[in-house]
Amino acid sequence: MHYDLLIRNAHLHRQQELVDIAVKDGYFASIAQSDQGTINLAPTTSATREIDVGGRLVMPPFIDAHVHLDAVLTVGQPRYNTTGTLLEGIQIWSTRKASLSREDVKRRALEAIRWEVAQGTLHIRSHVDVCDPNLTALRALLELREEVRDICHLQLVAFPQDGIFSFPNGPQLMRRALELGCDLVGGIPHYEWTRDMGVEDVHYAFALAKEFNRDIDCHCDETDDPLSRFSEVMAADTLQQGWQGRVTASHCTAMHSYDNAYAFKLIGLLAQAQIHVVANPFDNVVLQGRFDSYPKRRGITRIKELVAGGVNVALGHDSIMDPWFPLGRGDMLAAAQLALLLCHLNGYEEINTVLDLITTNAAKALRIQDSYGIEEGKPADFLVLDAPNAFEALRLIPVRLHVFKAGREVAFTSPARSVLRRSGDNEEKTVTFHL
Ligand code: FE2
Repeated sequence: MHYDLLIRNAHLHRQQELVDIAVKDGYFASIAQSDQGTINLAPTTSATREIDVGGRLVMPPFIDAHVHLDAVLTVGQPRYNTTGTLLEGIQIWSTRKASLSREDVKRRALEAIRWEVAQGTLHIRSHVDVCDPNLTALRALLELREEVRDICHLQLVAFPQDGIFSFPNGPQLMRRALELGCDLVGGIPHYEWTRDMGVEDVHYAFALAKEFNRDIDCHCDETDDPLSRFSEVMAADTLQQGWQGRVTASHCTAMHSYDNAYAFKLIGLLAQAQIHVVANPFDNVVLQGRFDSYPKRRGITRIKELVAGGVNVALGHDSIMDPWFPLGRGDMLAAAQLALLLCHLNGYEEINTVLDLITTNAAKALRIQDSYGIEEGKPADFLVLDAPNAFEALRLIPVRLHVFKAGREVAFTSPARSVLRRSGDNEEKTVTFHL
């Protein structure tokens, strides 16, 4: 058998034995246990290209389940956020939003996508602000969604940044966004002027989702206010409308501040409704806790308890150099490391589960699991990390040596090399950062 590509001596997450992976016509053709460096697939196996990855970790692609591509790479425009707060970020964005053009949005979004793909993220769900009578950003990203299909799968959410009912013609703009081809319905109930309007925000998202047969992903309870309780409304609507498995609640930072009895009840309800929760550690940790003196709340949702309660949890990068989060380089592995630190997920076994948040769990949230994963017959989308396992990947944040989409290498990176020179010693020694 002649294959297009053979990956030899790959370590798959949570598997003991190394495997050899054969790719043909863009799909995983065969996966078999490595036999001391000899492909175990068939005696006559050959391939156009062979890569011996020497026991390194081979993963399905990373997934960014929540980002705002319309706002990426606008940091400093027209000015930097001096307080670092959510409110000042919204003020700066409202100014910057007025100068958006199709070319501006596409150029910045494409650059951020290039950063993400180079680091192994091949699926991105982006919220797009539709509180704009011209829907400029949405029209730009709908075009880009098609133009980047060779490197990335993009889902777009109609996101009412300024509210559905607290913004002029908000419902009409949401509807228009779906008519134009937006993939998902969004919402922002906690940001509406009143609690009642927030409930209506959720109900409206479900009505649109049913009418257009779309999934839902609402920004929900992104506040430290322990009385912000719209996740329960999303769960109730999901159960009543039969939308189980099709609904994501993003951020849910108020859960950090709920009393434990209510959080326990809510987590059970979210699990029953099969709601996916997406946490965004970069933004959550800098934007929440801003009204606290000390102690300061971390503001991220209860990832550990949600996972333990049977809720599917994924992660997003949320911002990349925008008015809300000035840093970032589009690396989901860095987001996962931060979630590990903030949510006390540093138990030895827990570290393994952290990688699920940016891979298999996120695939369920994006509902792409049927074509996702390193299994025979599925599209050959995968990456090779310069680390032997999940523990080392999350410790080192190593480069992604190779990134493949449908069997085609879409990105590669050479690892950096550090060399140490001792005084009086002419010998240069490489520093490996390994035990
Ligand atoms: Fe967001």
